Amino acid sequence: MSQSIIYNNDITQTIKNTVYNDKYDFLNQSYSSLYPNLHRYPATMLPQIGLELLRDFNAKKTNLLDPYCGSGSSFISGLEYGITNFIGFDLNPLAVMISNAKLTTIHKNTLYEAKNLIFEELNNTNKISPNNNILSRITNIDFWINKDAQNKLLKLYHSIINTCKILNNNSLNNILLLVFSETLREVSYTRNNEFKLFRMKNYETYKPDVIAIFTNKLNEIYGKYINYYYPKLIENKIEYHIYNSFFDNKKYNLHKVDTILTSPPYGDSKTTVAYGQFSTFINEWLGMEQARKLDSNLMGGKKSKILYNSGLIREYIEAIKDISLNRALEISSFYFDLENSINNLVNIVNKNGKVFYVVGNRRVKNIELPTDKFIAEKFVQNSFIHLTTIKRKILNKTMPVRNSPTNQTGILSNTMNYEYIVVCEKIH
Ligand SMILES: C[S@@+](CC[C@H](N)C(=O)[O-])C[C@H]1O[C@@H](n2cnc3c(N)ncnc32)[C@H](O)[C@@H]1O
Repeated sequence: MSQSIIYNNDITQTIKNTVYNDKYDFLNQSYSSLYPNLHRYPATMLPQIGLELLRDFNAKKTNLLDPYCGSGSSFISGLEYGITNFIGFDLNPLAVMISNAKLTTIHKNTLYEAKNLIFEELNNTNKISPNNNILSRITNIDFWINKDAQNKLLKLYHSIINTCKILNNNSLNNILLLVFSETLREVSYTRNNEFKLFRMKNYETYKPDVIAIFTNKLNEIYGKYINYYYPKLIENKIEYHIYNSFFDNKKYNLHKVDTILTSPPYGDSKTTVAYGQFSTFINEWLGMEQARKLDSNLMGGKKSKILYNSGLIREYIEAIKDISLNRALEISSFYFDLENSINNLVNIVNKNGKVFYVVGNRRVKNIELPTDKFIAEKFVQNSFIHLTTIKRKILNKTMPVRNSPTNQTGILSNTMNYEYIVVCEKIH
């Protein structure tokens, strides 16, 4: 049954039931079936989903905004669909770097010239003092990276920066620093198959060949960029701006948009996906202050002092409160932040503009929270109609699908085997 809600001036709007559509499962496809990712990132959205949505709902080929752009998958969907103007926001500097790299147009001759120069610059190694203060930006660096690797990383980094200066090309930075970031992660003692920072067992015996790893990463990322991204980027003049910030229309005075396509976080970073922790090394290396606090600055990261107690989510938060007031306050914070974000976004959408939110309904204390309905409700309260919510199976998502919703060690349950795509349209 559809659910009706009444808002301020007595107009009853309808939130529709979810509709399962296997077309959106993309069961046999991975990220790389369309555009291989240039850098790892947690909980990425398959660009195929966005592309299908833009086609199915006949989105305008004008512009696209993603307020939680992460590694920029929504921009890739838009690019493939024929959109040429993109605006993105993300609080994570690494996310901004990856998104920028995917939209930057750099000729392959420039890339190869840069590659040669980096290795030439590396030979001028004695210019760089091993005490360079960049290394001290990484908290407890000796715990994570051996001394030899630290010095080689420093030399590589300076070679990259010098190369960009010599070629007078700042856009190059976007791609070269991704190569550097992947290298930094790989040469560290971090377990590579985890998003959180855990030191590997037997780390003392890990003696990575930094330059060889960098060279492999460079060839891999260049190959992906040149073969997949570059040909698409030169078809049209692409305009884009990715802000390292939360969405704030007042501050940035943006033009209105016809499409929002996004996959927001499913919950606070601490108990769902730790984007900040995943990105710590490169964010610290590049000088981000308080990089280790990033997760608590993301949506829902600061515990609320009051419970969220309106709309359809209220009864779920009440039920969690009966089990744990603390968890109910944490969850409340996420919904306050999500609501604020939607309230800020609605005015930037043109009449008949469409919004697409790809979300998961997480389970807390064994209660499934209907975040998809919450999102539909908030848009409906703000001059939108709810067109549909599509349900899709998730098998490919790079994120934990099993965790401990009770927060008790050993008790596991499936938290998210489906994802929901909320589609709304602005009506006035
Ligand atoms: C699910 S991920 C987006 C993934 C993206 N669709 C992709 O394919 O890479 C959510 C993103 O929201 C960002 N984020 C969380 N809270 C935010 C906030 N308040 N403002 C801006 N970005 C935020 C996180 O850093 C993360 O990159």
